Amino acid sequence: MDFAFEPYRIKVVEKIERTSREERQRLLVAAGYNVFKVPSSAIYVDLLTDSGTGAMSDLQWSALMSGDEAYACSRSFKDFEDTIRDIFGYKHVIPTHQGRAAEGLLFTAMVKPGMVVPNNIHFDTTRANVEHVGGIALDCVDDAGLDPRLEAPFKGDMSLRKLSQAFEKYGKDRIPFVMLTITNNSGGGQPVSMGNAKAVAAFCREMGVPLIFDACRFAENAWFIQQREAGYRDVGIKDICREMFALGSGCTMSAKKDALVNIGGFLCLDNDDWAQAATNLLILREGFPTYGGLAGRDLAAVAQGLREVLDPDYLAYRIGQVARLGERLDELGVPHLKPTGGHAVYLDAKRMLPHIPQAQFPAQVVTAALYVEAGVRAVEIGSLMFEHRDPDTGKLVPPEMELVRLAVPRRVYTHTQLDYVADACAKVMALGERLNGLEVTWEPPSLRHFTAVLRPVGGGPLLAGL
Ligand code: F0G
Repeated sequence: MDFAFEPYRIKVVEKIERTSREERQRLLVAAGYNVFKVPSSAIYVDLLTDSGTGAMSDLQWSALMSGDEAYACSRSFKDFEDTIRDIFGYKHVIPTHQGRAAEGLLFTAMVKPGMVVPNNIHFDTTRANVEHVGGIALDCVDDAGLDPRLEAPFKGDMSLRKLSQAFEKYGKDRIPFVMLTITNNSGGGQPVSMGNAKAVAAFCREMGVPLIFDACRFAENAWFIQQREAGYRDVGIKDICREMFALGSGCTMSAKKDALVNIGGFLCLDNDDWAQAATNLLILREGFPTYGGLAGRDLAAVAQGLREVLDPDYLAYRIGQVARLGERLDELGVPHLKPTGGHAVYLDAKRMLPHIPQAQFPAQVVTAALYVEAGVRAVEIGSLMFEHRDPDTGKLVPPEMELVRLAVPRRVYTHTQLDYVADACAKVMALGERLNGLEVTWEPPSLRHFTAVLRPVGGGPLLAGL
């Protein structure tokens, strides 16, 4: 028989507390229908994010104990730097406390007001960090990546047409670099093909503009290339990563994803001047260049996590578990974005609850109902998160898709728990027209989805009859 099971044994467990439906209803109202503000102790299966929520291995926990806490040039930094150089191949390795700190350093150093940063799709913190320094965050994903029903192998690919139109429109002097997010989280955790990365890199070279990867889920992306792209079946995961990163001049990385740790990140750059500018800011904001915002033990755990994430048995299990959740949803008739992504399944809320208009946040309604009905926490990736003002017309533009992301933490939940989640989704969909839309009663000036307060439209109940 093949190795068709979780490639690990469970060594430590955490108890899940029971809650009643009434209790969850009360907690959701108190949270302003925003599951970001629901206590995690009242959640059964927490699929809010795959970021920093993974389980570390015995070797990572051991690395924490043997971490070197020297302020400067620690042994743990050396391990961190050597491991990252081995996989990513860039000259400068700058540790940060998480991914957005790396983005903040890069954009503050390199993006001036009015400049434009194209990406396949910017993640929300990436977009916010570009806009925070006065830049314009431009999404250039291929149209295929915006069609939730289309089955295609590399829906994270960037459109060369949209990219070259951006250069025509803004001119290359206003574009400091191009980014490519692997996998494309905001477009469904969909991978970018090596072929597309090569074409984007060639275009960037022609324009004389660097290519920078948002590398959060680089190993999952490499696994998809190995499985789906012609010519890569027999190429090792690390070699695929090296080939991909050699196309660019640097990367931002949230170690909370594919470095299998609970906190950490880094920025890599080849360019000495850029690295110097970022390091000057790093010292101001994060810490000395050999620890960034992290403890020595965190650096050690990142290095070990990066070695583990390249294991093909781990990746087959990881992406297989997410695909299995998608298959269960198919069996139950719950519409979701096809094909399933590397780290998450994205429910298609427009099709789950067609009676709720986009202005009434259908994806947030599904998220709220999943919590009340089943204690499952998901995250809205729709109008609440991504509605934005068009820089040219000033009008509010809703996103193309209204998605609910079920992000699966790494090495944390069992198949049984994810079967329960699939059943919960079917139950919410079956509530249908009994579910009411939501409206925002308070929101902060940016990144509103984290803290916004909502209520059912007109102040009634979320579920009619209750
Ligand atoms: N880029 C991408 C593609 C991401 O998915 C994230 C985080 C970041 C950058 C920022 O990294 O959180 O370490 O500062 N995504 C998490 C998520 C939060 O839930 O998808 P960070």
